[in-house]
Amino acid sequence: MRARPRSISIASGKGGTGKTTLTANLGIALGSLGRDVSILDGDLAMANLGIIMGMHKCEVSFLDVLTGNADIKDVTYENHGIKVIPTGFRFEDVHDMLSKVKRERVEEIIGELLRQTEFLLIDAPAGIADATIISIAAAREMLPVCNPTYPSLVDCYKTIRLANVLGSWARGLVVNRTGKAADLSLGEVEQFMGRTLGAMPILSDIPEDPKVQEAEREGVPVVVYEPECAASLAINELAKVVAGEADLTYVPYEERAVVETTKRLIRALTGRRA
Ligand SMILES: Nc1ncnc2c1ncn2[C@@H]1O[C@H](COP(=O)(O)OP(=O)(O)O)[C@@H](O)[C@H]1O
Ligand SMILES: [Mg+2]
Repeated sequence: MRARPRSISIASGKGGTGKTTLTANLGIALGSLGRDVSILDGDLAMANLGIIMGMHKCEVSFLDVLTGNADIKDVTYENHGIKVIPTGFRFEDVHDMLSKVKRERVEEIIGELLRQTEFLLIDAPAGIADATIISIAAAREMLPVCNPTYPSLVDCYKTIRLANVLGSWARGLVVNRTGKAADLSLGEVEQFMGRTLGAMPILSDIPEDPKVQEAEREGVPVVVYEPECAASLAINELAKVVAGEADLTYVPYEERAVVETTKRLIRALTGRRA
């Protein structure tokens, strides 16, 4: 029997914490564990998942799907062993565009995405505007990624709370770019999350690693560019945790039904019950 699909948004509150980098590399790492993975660029305004994946020229993208001018299969590209659904950069106001997207269209798109894959990772934008709400509400699970600083933690906390309101659940936290002298320690991060949320285990700490930006310059995701560097090793370990192949307990939320996801999304966007 086909495994039930899992949808996970990768979100943080702040920009620059490493969401896009993690979406691309965790996706590839899950793919190399033999999983069927799709990654979607939910950052409709900034749209740089394609760039990190080394895909600069995708004529049609997810925006065309949202506006009804293309199907998911037209914008699903295979790269590094996984399916990639990039979003193209447009100057058009994303809020305006989203307000024109029909509810039936959103239902169709999510249904199609979940049918074509085992893991759907969604790169969420920073902030809490419409595109972030869509990205988080469209997924059953949320993987928060923060940096080891207080402002980053506070914004990450807010995003986790938002996700919970939307019915998307975080099982644990990724702390990215660790190892600098002035950073909060992992113990302090855990204490903060314990105080504010009850408990939020750290699933992974990914060290600050110059290979990440070197890979980015070369247009090759770091787990492919330098599989043995510290950041790649951490991301590969995280993939095992997320896939349930590690000792660390991670209980996934499996999609019960596509319709349930859609209802959550409509409720999030309109405040109405679908
Ligand atoms: N572990 C890391 N070590 C070094 N640089 C990193 C690491 N993770 C991310 N970066 C760099 O940080 C910058 C922001 O990352 P990005 O994934 O675009 O963040 P976001 O999507 O959250 O805005 C990029 O230049 C990326 O290469
Ligand atoms: Mg990003």
